Amino acid sequence: MTKKVNRQWWKEGIVYQIYPRSFQDTSGNGIGDINGIAQRLDYIKSLGVDIIWLNPVYESPNDDNGYDISDYRSIMAEFGTMAEFDALLSGIKERGLKLVMDLVVNHSSDEHKWFVESKKSRDNPYRDYYHWWPAEKGTPPKRWSYFDIDGNAWKYDKTTDAYYLHYFSVKQPDLKWENQKLRQEIYDIMKFWFNKGVDGFRMDVIPFISKDINYPELPKEFNENFIPFYANGPKLHEYLYEMHTQVLSKYDVMTVGEAPGVTTDQALDFVAEHREELDMFFHFDLMSLDREQDEVFWMNKEKWKLTEFKAIHSKWDAVFAEEGWGSLYLNNHDFPRSVSRWGNDSKTHWYNSATMLQTFLLTMRGTPYFYYGEEIGMTNINFKNITDYRDINTLNRFEMAKSNGENLEDFIENEKHASRDNARTPMQWDATQHAGFSSQKPWIKVNDNYTEGLNVAEQEVDKTSVLNYFRQMVHIRKTHLGLVYGKYDLLLPESEEVYAYTRTWENTKYLVLLSFSTKGISFKLEGLMFDRAKVLISNDDVETPHEKGSFYLEPYQSIVYELL
Ligand code: GLC
Repeated sequence: MTKKVNRQWWKEGIVYQIYPRSFQDTSGNGIGDINGIAQRLDYIKSLGVDIIWLNPVYESPNDDNGYDISDYRSIMAEFGTMAEFDALLSGIKERGLKLVMDLVVNHSSDEHKWFVESKKSRDNPYRDYYHWWPAEKGTPPKRWSYFDIDGNAWKYDKTTDAYYLHYFSVKQPDLKWENQKLRQEIYDIMKFWFNKGVDGFRMDVIPFISKDINYPELPKEFNENFIPFYANGPKLHEYLYEMHTQVLSKYDVMTVGEAPGVTTDQALDFVAEHREELDMFFHFDLMSLDREQDEVFWMNKEKWKLTEFKAIHSKWDAVFAEEGWGSLYLNNHDFPRSVSRWGNDSKTHWYNSATMLQTFLLTMRGTPYFYYGEEIGMTNINFKNITDYRDINTLNRFEMAKSNGENLEDFIENEKHASRDNARTPMQWDATQHAGFSSQKPWIKVNDNYTEGLNVAEQEVDKTSVLNYFRQMVHIRKTHLGLVYGKYDLLLPESEEVYAYTRTWENTKYLVLLSFSTKGISFKLEGLMFDRAKVLISNDDVETPHEKGSFYLEPYQSIVYELL
């Protein structure tokens, strides 16, 4: 029997993530903007997606491209004005789409007025909006920072002879959620956007918000990997429940937390309906799969195995089989392009692997999140020179590697595949200069392959393009509810070449076959009823299964069958 599902728009919806800086420039400054997104709404609608998630568009000095917010209620001047934002939101609503914004409230910018005040004096009314450690107590217990040149999350500030905490860059001081006044400020900000009609938030590093404000020594077991420590603060769930009660419960909105450090055991504490906290979150298990152990930023391209990829997805699917809901993603603004990472971006395999990966996300249980350009198969840019990089993460770690006397060629070799900038190159709209992204030199280089068919305009007119495959596959998901809610069962768990699974829902059953191999592959599947099997879609020449359940897939081929 199929369990009764609690149907929700955000479970059935498909999300399209936009990195505004790189989507479409209309003002001619080489930086994408709000009007650019507005101009492309018909395109977005034509994809069949339902929900747009925008990376931060708020006022920011851009130390970390908008993840350092200096005013939560205004729009970054480079991106446009609030009036333009309002027009964008109406355009979104007119088309029946929804808008999810980024909520970055683990930290603010050091240029936010709260912090400017907070650092003025120890008795300033905003002092307690941030985490301070008075220097007379000695050096604060070690905390690691993601973006600090010395890896140190405490920064000494001489004005008040104290250290402040910054898990990210020195310009991203952590907000003190333990202060109830601060929490109220955040809830007010959320209401401000919800009252405008925004449909939800993606919450940046949300598990990090609660801290033990005695700042004890970092327990030894977290010295190599501090993330689980950051993600398990003592009052985390109290705050999320409070936020839900005071804000979220009052609106029909969706929430998705970015959740590094959250394990399957902890998952339901965040998203089981009765918990009244969040709707979904992004786990990091897949994103860590090809990383060197305990090294968040070092990638081992050859390391990951399909069996592990499948095990991760199967494990997370099981967690939400009865309660809660998952989110599915293969890349975003923090990780390399999916086709380069999980597929194969060589000329021979690019098409099949890009469409195979789309098929995967669109046939799994959970809400699929696509990242701009993924619908046309955009690839990594693999910058060879440090001068081409823009990301604070790569730039600061480069300086660190230099001062530690590390091998800088190895460093660049890693960044070529691992850097976040791979995912931040301008959207490839057409084959004109700068790929139709801007009339001026873009803030970050465009990938040269935009002239080789890897652009929207050319794919638009080619019926068999990656883009048109995407649209077709989206349509299939939207017209087969079983692909959204159906039970997932993994087949061939041991195969390193084929990812095969069924989805079962009421009186329908689907079989999904995905090749992750550069070679043609034959295999058998037992016990499936093929009498009424129908191919819903394939990205290559279809081989109909013969009686004995033998199959053959071309390299990176994908096929979805409807079995019943
Ligand atoms: C999240 C964001 C990332 C940002 C960091 C600090 O991981 O996705 O882009 O740099 O938080 O805000």
